[in-house]
Amino acid sequence: MKPSYEVSNFGVTKYGEKASKFTLRGAGGVVLEVSDYGGKVVRLFTPDRDGAMKDVVVGGDDPSFWDGGDPYWGCIIGRVGNRIAGGRFSLNGKDYELALNNFPAGIGCSLHGGKRGWDAYVWSAKPFVDGDDVGVEFSRVSPDGEENYPGTVIAKVTYTLTKDNVWRVDYEAQSDEDTPINMTQHVYFNFKGESGGTIEDHVMTIAASNVTPTDAGQIPTGEIAKVDGTPFDFRKGMRIGERINEPDEQLEIGKGYDHNWVLDKGQGDAVGYAASLYCPLNGRKVEVWTTEPCLQVYTANWASYDQKAKGGEHLSFRCGVALETQHAPDSPNKPQFPSIIVKKGDIYRSSTEFRFSAQ
Ligand code: BGC
Repeated sequence: MKPSYEVSNFGVTKYGEKASKFTLRGAGGVVLEVSDYGGKVVRLFTPDRDGAMKDVVVGGDDPSFWDGGDPYWGCIIGRVGNRIAGGRFSLNGKDYELALNNFPAGIGCSLHGGKRGWDAYVWSAKPFVDGDDVGVEFSRVSPDGEENYPGTVIAKVTYTLTKDNVWRVDYEAQSDEDTPINMTQHVYFNFKGESGGTIEDHVMTIAASNVTPTDAGQIPTGEIAKVDGTPFDFRKGMRIGERINEPDEQLEIGKGYDHNWVLDKGQGDAVGYAASLYCPLNGRKVEVWTTEPCLQVYTANWASYDQKAKGGEHLSFRCGVALETQHAPDSPNKPQFPSIIVKKGDIYRSSTEFRFSAQ
């Protein structure tokens, strides 16, 4: 099969911007529908063990479904993914105050880039076919002071579908002032389809011996805790639902899994194995490989279930799982975590591969 793409209309966003959708048909059979509206993944078809294709990401038909912000369905997250405590950090002797847009246990923080993060903009898009690959390159300029962050950032995110059914996400950014950057992709998988019920029966493996526990406001305490003997030990594949309702302080804070695992492979220039998700019912599987040192796993414990999925059915509790490759939350306030400060003129680079297969 030759890779190909089509471009179609994706309506007008609540900010009045015209959006497009790109249907990428990979040479290996996987089909990825994405919008230039925040790089959102609208549909993603992967084969089961009999070769039957199904859309395995959570999304909606109504354009308003995609209108930015919580729960960040399928989008690119920037400038800073995850939480910053109290919306405050200091850099080069200057204090920065960000808008508070998330309130776990009533405690305010900045989440996923702020009130209008990078998910809520229409990006410039260049679709391409390159040999066996098909993809789309998204870019946008985030002006100095956007969401109160310092520095003008030129950001580029490239989605590539390979003949081996790998969806690769390459991030690149450059700033004219020192600034924090921690980008990720927020797609929610459900290998039974988005209306197929909870993902608690999916088997997850995470190559991590440590997590960063949080306080009630879901801000890491700074501790790096061993997963041994806890419901956070996924080093051997385990059903997500196996221990999710066990009495455990951390699971209570997150209302399930909503935590940052510290990957054993560490940070690297090349992608390394981070995690996998497998659905025993139909054999669909994804392996996540990344250059990032950490992974946030979020089992849709807070999603607003009054929303309708693409088929018109209501979304259920735990209708998807997001596997967000990243640096640790609240890094600007945690000197013991690897820094997310990108120096003026330096190039921020990060890559993650979602390798699809069936067993
Ligand atoms: C966070 C959750 C949040 C969700 C949707 C995840 O990345 O960890 O706490 O509810 O995004 O906003």
